[in-house]
Amino acid sequence: MNSYSLTHLVLVLLALPFPPTPPPLYCLPGAVGGDRNITARIGKPLVLNCRGAPKKPPQQLEWKLNTGRTEAWKVLSPQGGSWDSVARVLPNGSLLLPAVGIQDEGTFRCRATSRKGKETRSAYQVRVYQTPGKPEIINPASELMAGVPNKVGTCVSEGGYPAGTLNWHSDGKPLIPDGKGVSVEEETRRHPKTGLFTLQSELTVIPAQGGAPHPTFSCSFSPGLPRRRALHTAPIQLTVWEPVPREVQVMVQPEGGKVVLGGTLTLTCETPAQSSLQIHWIKDVSDLALWKGRDWEL
Ligand SMILES: *[C@@H]1O[C@H](CO)[C@@H](O)[C@H](O)[C@H]1NC(C)=O
Ligand SMILES: *[C@@H]1O[C@H](CO)[C@@H](O)[C@H](O)[C@H]1NC(C)=O
Repeated sequence: MNSYSLTHLVLVLLALPFPPTPPPLYCLPGAVGGDRNITARIGKPLVLNCRGAPKKPPQQLEWKLNTGRTEAWKVLSPQGGSWDSVARVLPNGSLLLPAVGIQDEGTFRCRATSRKGKETRSAYQVRVYQTPGKPEIINPASELMAGVPNKVGTCVSEGGYPAGTLNWHSDGKPLIPDGKGVSVEEETRRHPKTGLFTLQSELTVIPAQGGAPHPTFSCSFSPGLPRRRALHTAPIQLTVWEPVPREVQVMVQPEGGKVVLGGTLTLTCETPAQSSLQIHWIKDVSDLALWKGRDWEL
């Protein structure tokens, strides 16, 4: 049934009279018209239309640009020459940039006069972008200790333009650096040749005591241009250890810890009743030798 109707559709399309003429506002990928802000991906071609220009020569039109490649305004001659590899005027009056680069950011203007003598101006503000690789968390912590600063990990995003920002999230909520419980150390580097950015953000947190025992952390890259999507790292899940409560005390019997040789010294570790902690006895290592061979009971 499906294959039948598909065949039927194909036959109908083939039966159409000669190539349908494109509608007047035919939109080709990368072709834009009007006074606009344009964002173009680095390395891709960009076509800017010169509004009001006759579709074929002879035309009266002038393209000029003020970008990172020019000193102030440069008028492009239709013959192009050395600029052909960067920007050239097409036979239909549009401007083609075969491979947009960071230096092409700037303003492009065209002034065209129609066959009837009507003048039309187009202006474009061009900004370029490159999507970085997916951000990653490097050197992630394996566990955290509540109440003290812990490095969670370093989020890295490589090869983006413009720089954009890195943001941390915990359990799905944004972590706002406040210099107290949450702090980040950021670094932005620029590749000397490509001009692309590498961002690094190291997160340090002080987990609240009695807080979530297994928080997740993730990081996202927010592009520096509007309407471009954020990129997220995979989340990491960490275990938070609670420190030994302050109420833990060591009781010494007899008081002061002074005993006669051969006497008994009792040390008692007191913890709050509700705690289910493991108790470890720790002794100065340097003294350990003195204890060798003595009675030492737990
Ligand atoms: C001019 O030609 C280019 C390349 O074929 C095309 O992308 C662009 O849309 C054309 N401009 C107009 C105004 O049709
Ligand atoms: C173009 O971008 C500028 C800021 O970069 C903004 O003020 C302006 O409104 C934008 N214009 C359009 C048509 O989006």
